[in-house]
Amino acid sequence: MAQVKGRLAVLTGGGDCPGLNAVIRAVVKTALKNGYEIYGIENGFNGLITGTMKLMDYASVSGILPRGGTILGTTNRDNPFHFAVEENGKYVFYDKREEVVKNLRDRNIEALVVIGGGSLNIAAKLAAECDVKVVGVPKTIDNDLQCTERTFGFDTAMAMATEALDRLHTTAESHHRVMALEVMGRYAGWIALHSGIAGGADVILLPEIPYDINSVLRKIEERRKSGKKFSIIVVAEGAKPIGGELSVARVVEGSFEPLRLGGAGEKLVREIENRTGIESRCTVLGYLQRGGSPTAFDRVLSTRYGVAAAEACIRKEYNVMVSLQGDKIVTEPIAKVAAQPRLVPLDSEIIRTGRQMGLCFGD
Ligand code: F6P
Repeated sequence: MAQVKGRLAVLTGGGDCPGLNAVIRAVVKTALKNGYEIYGIENGFNGLITGTMKLMDYASVSGILPRGGTILGTTNRDNPFHFAVEENGKYVFYDKREEVVKNLRDRNIEALVVIGGGSLNIAAKLAAECDVKVVGVPKTIDNDLQCTERTFGFDTAMAMATEALDRLHTTAESHHRVMALEVMGRYAGWIALHSGIAGGADVILLPEIPYDINSVLRKIEERRKSGKKFSIIVVAEGAKPIGGELSVARVVEGSFEPLRLGGAGEKLVREIENRTGIESRCTVLGYLQRGGSPTAFDRVLSTRYGVAAAEACIRKEYNVMVSLQGDKIVTEPIAKVAAQPRLVPLDSEIIRTGRQMGLCFGD
């Protein structure tokens, strides 16, 4: 039997995202092809803390390219530096870094591929404070990570939102209604902006541009005067009126980022209906944006990212994140990625495109 050159491990952290399985498949196949063994860690950082992992082979990644979700399981809780345990009805937090390091050392795992969004923060901290060798892969439907032009999963979410807008158009037109679609994205408006342009929305409300309700009403009125009796609005979950509050749906204790946004769309349509008398409805697209099969674009990007991440491990280029820049896959120091979310720049060409098309951004 050929000698094993080394051992790697892979985990998926944070919310699920279309393309996770495509990345896992590419990481595993590249590792095996180059003579490495590779562990699949179950349920994100939880499996790293508890040592729940298994060696992967070609059969374990067979047939998963088009499949949604993650065969490894994931969680957006279980931060090893701040591990929440419920004791007597209260959360108590523990530092589990020693368990993580031991679980990797016991199995001679030399590097860890972390497929994550916000959870890449944890990977960066493991690298900086525990000398764990990590390679990150930028995952999130929100497309809000620094140091890359695209995260995988975004294209699929955008396609889902665009299809929803096409469907809402026909019902809005038939009923002469204002229809809002609330989309995900946390504090960044990438999904709202791109799907709004692709789906021919009339108004797009982004977290980056607090809105003035009067500006939205003017747009609806302008359309009615020109004979268009319906309007389509895309509302990012992080959108808020000027001087107003974020719409928070819940607080998830023990989660990497406890606030869950939701309700911005319903709040908006109620105000529109109250102020104009026009029947207005909101659809919340929710987890449909994350579930199911990735688009062809996301399958290709995920595969490129997975291969590049395994290659970085093999050439021992550690503590980086693979990144798309132009049409090239490059690496960036993982410490640079973690800080703040990447927001839509207000002077970007895509915002200008929207404005030239007569779109209202609520300002
Ligand atoms: O980051 C991905 C995302 O889907 C966000 O767009 C959304 O705000 C959040 O995760 C929802 O998180 P959860 O799965 O914990 O409800």
